[in-house]
Amino acid sequence: MNQLPEHPRVLALANQKGGVGKTTTAINLGTALAAIGEEVLIVDLDPQGNASTGLGIDRASRKISTYDLLIGEATLAETIVETVVPRLSVSPSTLDNLGVELEIAREQDRAFRLRNAIADHVSACERDIQGKTAKRFSYVLVDCPPSLNLLTINAMSAAHSILVPLQCEFFALEGLSQLLQTVEQVKRTLNPTLSIHGIVLTMFDARNNLSNQVVADVRTHMGEAVYETIIPRNVRVSEAPSYGKPALLYDLKCTGSQAYLKLASEIIQRERRLKTAA
Ligand SMILES: Nc1ncnc2c1ncn2[C@@H]1O[C@H](COP(=O)(O)OP(=O)(O)OP(=O)(O)O)[C@@H](O)[C@H]1O
Ligand SMILES: [Mg+2]
Repeated sequence: MNQLPEHPRVLALANQKGGVGKTTTAINLGTALAAIGEEVLIVDLDPQGNASTGLGIDRASRKISTYDLLIGEATLAETIVETVVPRLSVSPSTLDNLGVELEIAREQDRAFRLRNAIADHVSACERDIQGKTAKRFSYVLVDCPPSLNLLTINAMSAAHSILVPLQCEFFALEGLSQLLQTVEQVKRTLNPTLSIHGIVLTMFDARNNLSNQVVADVRTHMGEAVYETIIPRNVRVSEAPSYGKPALLYDLKCTGSQAYLKLASEIIQRERRLKTAA
């Protein structure tokens, strides 16, 4: 197992619940971080490949995917595709990732495939002083599937911290304790420095009393772990992927885009605080 390099910062977007905003957050937070000058890579681990599609990467441009990386047949650099957003790249995913778990189940390093690939990439960048062949990233966002399977475990063992999108709905907190238990288990066994970066409340609807109640409940239970920024439910955010664009490119002024910009700056502030505390 390789040591986890300090840079780039690797954040995994995880929640085994489906449809809570993991992919939307990966795409739009990634775009917002890139817009404020960070060099960002989104690693799509979900066989559904929604992050890849939402960033306009068609199937034909996914010849080398995270599947090839996880089975050890490609380097991270070989998977990377540029997006229409300056400073934002993606390692795309395909349905092949459905088979990864079975294929690598017997390999000793099966939980560390992504971590090793990122560490190898960082070493390649260090060797390549002019930075011509290997792109240096400051942030890597890993979009996980809605499951606590080996793909998600690979993300958790490669990450410095976990970002948990939580939808403002009645069952928001259901399943969270299982997720937090898995994080603790990964911390004990695979990645001792893993932390929870924060919980981001998504699809908030101010007209709905339930949404307000969920925010209050989650803040009571999870305290400081919850980001101040709340992502509103916004139709522009849900339309953007069908144009192969992040919401920030599709409609920068909409409330959803503005919230993701705010979340990006809150995340950078949290990173600074963590650094000074260390
Ligand atoms: N802020 C928002 N406003 C409106 N719609 C949203 C918002 N965030 C996400 N959605 C929509 O909700 C659905 C689920 O979002 P998303 O795909 O990001 O969730 P996910 O957690 O990645 O899902 P999965 O578990 O299937 O990977 C999508 O149709 C998306 O467009
Ligand atoms: Mg998704």
